[in-house]
Amino acid sequence: MKYALAIITLVISSLLIGNVSEVFDHNKKDPLRDEGISKTLSALGEAHPDHYLDSISDEMIQRGEELIFFGRTTSPNGSKSKQISKFYKCISCHNTVKEDPNLAEVNPERRLDYAREMNIPYLQGSTFYGIVNRETWYNDDYVLKYGNLVTKAKNSLEGSIQLCAEVCSQGRTLEDWEIESMLAYLWSIELKRSDLNWTAYDEKKMYESSDAERIQFLKSKYLTKSPATFGSLPKSKADGYEGLIGNPEKGKVIYELGCKHCHREQGESDVVLDDSKATFNWLKRNIPSNSDLSIYEIIRKGTYSAEGHKEYMPHYTMEKMSNQQLEDLRSYIESEAKK
Ligand code: HEC
Ligand code: HEC
Repeated sequence: MKYALAIITLVISSLLIGNVSEVFDHNKKDPLRDEGISKTLSALGEAHPDHYLDSISDEMIQRGEELIFFGRTTSPNGSKSKQISKFYKCISCHNTVKEDPNLAEVNPERRLDYAREMNIPYLQGSTFYGIVNRETWYNDDYVLKYGNLVTKAKNSLEGSIQLCAEVCSQGRTLEDWEIESMLAYLWSIELKRSDLNWTAYDEKKMYESSDAERIQFLKSKYLTKSPATFGSLPKSKADGYEGLIGNPEKGKVIYELGCKHCHREQGESDVVLDDSKATFNWLKRNIPSNSDLSIYEIIRKGTYSAEGHKEYMPHYTMEKMSNQQLEDLRSYIESEAKK
């Protein structure tokens, strides 16, 4: 009897290992390497998230992409949809490509280097790339800004999309088919194993673990949420953050890939930040100001939309711009103003 049980256990476990080694065979060139993470997780027994879609067509993906890039698309019944927001597109504040070289860490300095290398905008919102693989949204300190609204959004990607369409974009409520189309597009840009800097060591570790451990291990290779910490102003704006010396070269990258993304001709903001000495002088002069015009105030607190003037600037959290980076930007502005 014992013998039979042992054989059964052996057969079952070899079947299981057989299956798994098909997925994680480190000797073969992994054929599933570029498969979405969600497929691997689901093969390991993880339940689908609420925003999972049973079927996704190319048309849905295209509609979602158009909504995110242009704010409108052609609805399934053939009519042109209404613009989501007069002021913004989703891509005013969010990228749609990978923006961190190592998805397991929050490191704004490295994100900026990567943005320069890849020439992608440096923005306040987190990238949509891999957003379907996250498990909570509007995290941590965002409850301070949006209060109760976050309760609904935090555990629901659909809820977060709706919140951002209505509030962040100062736009309208999305229809169900619009949210579904956006989700279809977002699923098309989910994380792939090849995004995770996967090493032979990881492969071995995965091979040796149980399914539950595999799930945990896989998730340790990327962030399952975008952390958000609100920063504060320096004690003295004139002196800046204590003990930090700015690097103007890095500041220039922030100015080019961050600020100018919206502060350009016909941009999201009417205030154009160009390369003229007058602009740099204006920014420099206002550094100690107690208003939106100070880079410390605007970057750490943002502005709020008002009746008759809905355009506002979202602040940068510490994860999106460190105090060091703010000093880098300041030193760039000051060095350009001096020229
Ligand atoms: C004016 C800027 C702005 C616009 C426009 C905007 N967002 Fe956002 N969005 C933000 C900020 C800031 C956050 C909070 C920080 C973050 O993304 O981690 C955010 C968060 C989100 C989140 C949660 C992200 C996370 O991981 O926590 C989703 C989902 C989202 N936005 C979807 C959209 C969609 C869809 C649109 C277009 C309809 C849109 N946003 C337009 C600024 C914006
Ligand atoms: C996502 C778009 C966006 C980005 C990125 C952005 N801003 Fe803004 N900013 C705005 C909007 C919108 C306003 C509101 C002013 C307006 O009415 O146009 C604003 C306002 C400002 C103001 C106040 C202007 C005034 O006259 O009241 C300053 C200063 C400013 N931004 C600086 C910056 C700097 C510096 C950066 C880069 C670190 C930056 N902004 C990045 C959209 C943006």
